[in-house]
Amino acid sequence: MEKNRLCKLLNIRYPVIQAPMNWVSGPALVAAVSGAGGLGTLGPNAGSDDITHDVELTGERIRERIRTIRRLTDAPFAVNIVVGFGEDTKYSKKIVDVVVEEHVPVAVVSVGSPRVYTGVLKNAGTIVLHAVSTAEHAVKAKDAGVDAVICEGFEAGGHKGLTELTTFSLTPMVADAVDIPVVTGGGIADARGVIAALALGADGVYMGTRFMATRQAESHESVKAAVVAGKDACTVSIPKGKMIARDIRNRFTDDYMKLHQSGASPETMADYLANHSQYHSQLLGRSDDSEICCGQGAGLIEDIPDAAGLVSDLASDVERRFEALRLRLGSFF
Ligand SMILES: Cc1cc2nc3c(=O)[nH]c(=O)nc-3n(C[C@H](O)[C@H](O)[C@H](O)COP(=O)(O)O)c2cc1C
Repeated sequence: MEKNRLCKLLNIRYPVIQAPMNWVSGPALVAAVSGAGGLGTLGPNAGSDDITHDVELTGERIRERIRTIRRLTDAPFAVNIVVGFGEDTKYSKKIVDVVVEEHVPVAVVSVGSPRVYTGVLKNAGTIVLHAVSTAEHAVKAKDAGVDAVICEGFEAGGHKGLTELTTFSLTPMVADAVDIPVVTGGGIADARGVIAALALGADGVYMGTRFMATRQAESHESVKAAVVAGKDACTVSIPKGKMIARDIRNRFTDDYMKLHQSGASPETMADYLANHSQYHSQLLGRSDDSEICCGQGAGLIEDIPDAAGLVSDLASDVERRFEALRLRLGSFF
């Protein structure tokens, strides 16, 4: 079968992108997914043992991990660049320098304008995928010259804009709005989600939470166990200034919401977050009283497989589920 346009663009076998996850998607996960024919994406702090505010060190840690990925696989992979706002862009500037110097094949750019880094990355030969949460943003990203857009629905784990558009509605809107490849994510945890995403007009899928519960993810074992234990409505959206975050519902989210509703100052909220962050859950294993970004798809996850096996099982499940779908669609023809 001929590769679709996303696979051709990225030079990968399956249109499956392992989404970037802070503290979670380190070199082992990236290399496993890319080596299995998907596209792995290095997350900002994944592989670190501590938090640093040193810009140079942040960049050099990313460089070291890029080199580790290359020692593990020859396959294409991506690095996440979280653009950020104001002062915070000093980190992303440094990471862009490293990505360019290391000739990273693909950048997954999120949380910020596509106008900031698309030009410099593309001039260096890096393929740019930009994350958006509305069709309007997708058009802006396309106009800024990105190679593909990634749309993230409300179901998605982690931080996103204030819109509540779900993957089901957002994907076809974005697919109609732009003529470049569209990747979609948010709530996709198995082959049914992959087929649905492609049926909605996407060229590929973007999966975070599913890959968090894999052997190669850097997540603490207690976090992986919490994802597997999560059933049904086990996640919740919490407000974070101009963004929202979807997390596993736990003592952290309950206490955070109580604090928020009590009218606590932004400083108090920031302080609370800093002491109950993803570092505390993912690295230190404080999985009940700290934040665990997690998508609604957690309710569909029941195991902690090898990440490469997950990619190949997903591919064969798509084929099997597609046959079942054809039977179900029979009455339309
Ligand atoms: C634990 C976790 C950490 C995340 N960290 C980042 C990040 O550092 N950068 C980013 O662009 N997105 C981040 N995200 C969002 C994912 O890249 C992706 O949009 C999301 O996981 C897709 O939805 P899903 O979780 O339902 O598959 C994170 C998501 C999770 C679950």
